[in-house]
Amino acid sequence: MGTLLMKLQLQALFIAVCLFCSSSCLKIGETCSKDSECDAGLSCQTCAANGNTRPRCTRIQPTSPTSKVKGLPFNRYSWLTTHNSFAQAGVRSATGSLLVTPMNQNDTVASQLKNGVRGLMLDMYDFNNDIWLCHSTGGKCYNFTAFQPAINVLKEIQAFLEANPSEIVTIFIEDYVESPQGLTKVFQAAGLKKYWFPVDQMPKNGEDWPTVDDMVKNNLRLVVFTSKSAKEASEGIAYEWKYVVENEYGNGGMTPGSCPNRAESSPMNTKSRSLVLMNFFRGFPNASASCMDNSASLLSASKGCYEAAGKRWPNFIAVDYYEKSDGGGAPEAVDEANGHLTCGCDRITYCKGNGSNANATFGQCDVPTLAPPPPAAATTTTTATPQSQSPSNFATSVQLLWLCGTILATTLSIWI
Ligand SMILES: *[C@@H]1O[C@H](CO)[C@@H](O)[C@H](O)[C@H]1NC(C)=O
Ligand SMILES: *[C@@H]1O[C@H](CO)[C@@H](O)[C@H](O)[C@H]1NC(C)=O
Ligand SMILES: *[C@@H]1O[C@H](CO)[C@@H](O)[C@H](O)[C@H]1NC(C)=O
Ligand SMILES: *[C@@H]1O[C@H](CO)[C@@H](O)[C@H](O)[C@H]1NC(C)=O
Ligand SMILES: *[C@@H]1O[C@H](CO)[C@@H](O)[C@H](O)[C@H]1NC(C)=O
Repeated sequence: MGTLLMKLQLQALFIAVCLFCSSSCLKIGETCSKDSECDAGLSCQTCAANGNTRPRCTRIQPTSPTSKVKGLPFNRYSWLTTHNSFAQAGVRSATGSLLVTPMNQNDTVASQLKNGVRGLMLDMYDFNNDIWLCHSTGGKCYNFTAFQPAINVLKEIQAFLEANPSEIVTIFIEDYVESPQGLTKVFQAAGLKKYWFPVDQMPKNGEDWPTVDDMVKNNLRLVVFTSKSAKEASEGIAYEWKYVVENEYGNGGMTPGSCPNRAESSPMNTKSRSLVLMNFFRGFPNASASCMDNSASLLSASKGCYEAAGKRWPNFIAVDYYEKSDGGGAPEAVDEANGHLTCGCDRITYCKGNGSNANATFGQCDVPTLAPPPPAAATTTTTATPQSQSPSNFATSVQLLWLCGTILATTLSIWI
């Protein structure tokens, strides 16, 4: 009786394991029907614009570079950045009005941070006696272009920094605020001043930034840039283009093989600016095309910007609908930049060593053997577009299923 009970319990356990394997640990590239079936950090998507009609598990999170290679200067890392981070599709204005303005992302800033976004582009305006996040024209905000008061989103950032004491966030402000000390007051009110990385510690002549370890140790984990030069003197907010080179935004930044600087920025190869920001999004956002934009063309643009920037990989990769891709997407582009920046490998995941001494292992890479993913299209098996992103994951999960099946069969045969 005792052994019978034990067998039953074992059997129940194995069945549970098998159900878990077959329903909630799908790997990248595998066919899925909803997000919850995919592994953590993946979502279930198609990319019709790229001919990918088979719903499959798709990356939405980059690898945390500092978890892999520790202690390098801030400018030796690359960060996933959202363009118009606040312009969330499907929301209403906090004024109650309908929004008549382009939308660039599909989740909140809190959710973006949770998914590993570390660069935020925020357009700030004077509006309703406050500072608002607004997507407008002519420097003036209207109800139908006003998303919400900036303090709401700044508080989400504050909560994230507080809950994650080793994370660093960078904000790029498209600054239309004229009210005196307007930005200072709103950052103060959001509880963000204590994390503020001081402008006088930013390298002015192409030197390395302090290390991420130092920034974390000193709790100076919020880097803020403004587009208004006068605010550096008046409010201590760094004028972006003294520290960053940035390519053209919108369609002008999407021409294959070219990576021209935007008007406000020095030429991309200006080495006296230690940071490189790459924009890669359309002039008018297109949610259904962004899975395509954020994939192969993003990877190739990032190589183009690397060349244009004097062989420097972008530190910030800014996209629309960051979580949309046809496989690796923007997270893969960021992993690639981080691989080159931190350890000289094609992906940060290939870096060898235990992370405590990056120099000792620079250029030593652990490139996994790649298993071809299943075809992208649902209807045909001949149009496979191999995504090099899924090293052996597919094979692993097939093995897992096989293992589960074998265990189940064995259990059943013992039982019967
Ligand atoms: C804009 O929104 C505010 C707050 O909801 C409202 O009081 C005001 O009447 C609106 N203005 C217009 C022009 O609709
Ligand atoms: C945004 O996400 C929601 C929920 O996942 C989805 O239903 C909607 O289609 C998405 N919208 C866009 C524009 O991607
Ligand atoms: C958006 O992208 C889709 C897919 O590439 C395309 O079919 C559609 O025409 C685009 N829409 C606009 C307004 O450009
Ligand atoms: C990591 O590697 C360094 C030298 O490369 C060594 O000194 C250190 O003890 C290692 N740390 C761990 C946790 O293995
Ligand atoms: C790593 O290498 C850089 C330059 O290649 C050097 O400046 C730095 O001191 C080295 N760090 C360690 C821990 O060896």
